[in-house]
Amino acid sequence: GFGTGDTASVVAGPGGDAQVRSIQADDAAIQLAYASKVIIVPGYGLAAAQAQHAVAELANVLEARGVEVSYAIHPVAGRMPGHMNVLLAEANVPYPQLKEMDEINPEFPRADVALVIGANDVTNPAARRPGSAISGMPILDVDKAKSIIVVKRSMGHGYAGIDNELYADPKTSMYFADGKTAITEMTAAVKTLVA
Ligand code: TAP
Repeated sequence: GFGTGDTASVVAGPGGDAQVRSIQADDAAIQLAYASKVIIVPGYGLAAAQAQHAVAELANVLEARGVEVSYAIHPVAGRMPGHMNVLLAEANVPYPQLKEMDEINPEFPRADVALVIGANDVTNPAARRPGSAISGMPILDVDKAKSIIVVKRSMGHGYAGIDNELYADPKTSMYFADGKTAITEMTAAVKTLVA
């Protein structure tokens, strides 16, 4: 029964416009704190928000509770080659937690939560169908996770300039905030929960 937030917006999906559900720190924290496996999916917005240290702290707090945490690294996430690796290395994220796309994709179905932070195009299921600007681009299989939390400021587009159907998925909750603010709030909320 979590994620009972208000509906926030609509996104154009294959079957027409669909409702989007929003979430706040407390509900997000409950999902994360009581998960067995969380996959963090960073994108350009993580760099824009300079949220790399905040996300590393959240991961540490979750791991201390026994949650298995890994990061899904898409080859063109961000705006330059290796962008996410550089950013996360700066925050001293342990290298074994970073997993390249081909390695992490089979793990999404076992993830209780995929936590998407400022990634958009590299998670868009529209890439699997012909007819979109990103058709044929390999994507992270975020939509295969049991639940999905997406942190971004708005329903704004990514680099490719197209809607993301992931946001209308019934398994998805949108956390509308700056990446650093959102992660800091979530971490504080996790710390208030009993282990
Ligand atoms: P994008 O699809 O560009 O999406 C980034 C998202 O970050 C935006 O939708 C934006 O949403 C959000 N964001 C921006 N500032 C934020 C903030 N302060 N806090 C939270 N969220 C914020 O990113 P991606 O998934 O990493 O994909 C990369 C794209 O860039 C691909 O299309 C790729 O082809 C292209 N590209 C990559 C490269 C290389 S080599 N990596 C080079 C050129 C182009 P809001 O505005 O709603 O917050």
